[in-house]
Amino acid sequence: MNWLFRYLTSSIGKKQLMAVTGLMLYGFLITHLMGNFLLFLGAEKFNTYGHMLITNPMIIPMEIGLLSLFVIHIALALTSAKENMAARPVNYGAPLCTKFTKVSSQTMVLSGMAVLVFLVVHIVGVKYGTHYTVDYHGVVMRDLHRLLVEIYHNPIVTIFYVASMGILGFHITHGLQSAFQTLGFNHKKYTPMIKATSFFLGWGLAVGYSAVVIFTAMQKVV
Ligand code: HEM
Repeated sequence: MNWLFRYLTSSIGKKQLMAVTGLMLYGFLITHLMGNFLLFLGAEKFNTYGHMLITNPMIIPMEIGLLSLFVIHIALALTSAKENMAARPVNYGAPLCTKFTKVSSQTMVLSGMAVLVFLVVHIVGVKYGTHYTVDYHGVVMRDLHRLLVEIYHNPIVTIFYVASMGILGFHITHGLQSAFQTLGFNHKKYTPMIKATSFFLGWGLAVGYSAVVIFTAMQKVV
């Protein structure tokens, strides 16, 4: 057990765990977007999906798992950034790649913090927002569709969401390619492929989420 503790507190151990938790959060982002795409199919489909999720007995363990991933990922990101800053001051004589690594890790911390602010606003708004209900074929469930339409009818909220998705797109595009690099996938042949996949997946997710928000904002409140 001693070796595990030593590995997890080493610089490389922390970076690798940050990469693995980041990849798992990526999995959440993809499934969450697939669920949100049901908004395109109308209120009943989306609310029924939400009801299925909320009433699933595994929801509490899944939420605890998801929260743990976020907490571990953020804590490791902050400690690694602090260590990076303390390591060696970057002066004008430093090699360009050292300066670049430092700037890109600082941008990752800043964009990560902006995503965290978005996440808090988002969860408070949707999870703890007004609890409307609707009856479909005798089953009473939460009307999340109505809540989202109401939320996105405020243009400031829509702009905040779309801008946050831009920052998220940047964060996860850079995050995915650096996670692969940290985990040792560094090859003349595969690195350009990893970079292209990270770009299309990251910006694909950002555009997908933004499309959901804009589409929902255009729906009528019933
Ligand atoms: C932009 C379009 C989005 C829509 C329409 C949307 C919709 C929702 C809804 C309706 C819920 C509440 C489910 C419930 O009550 O249990 C939810 C929860 C959540 N969303 Fe989103 N979401 C969006 C984007 C995002 C993004 C980009 C992230 C991550 C960066 C995210 C992270 C979460 C998390 C962590 C939860 C809580 C999950 C749970 O505790 O069960 N969402 N979202």
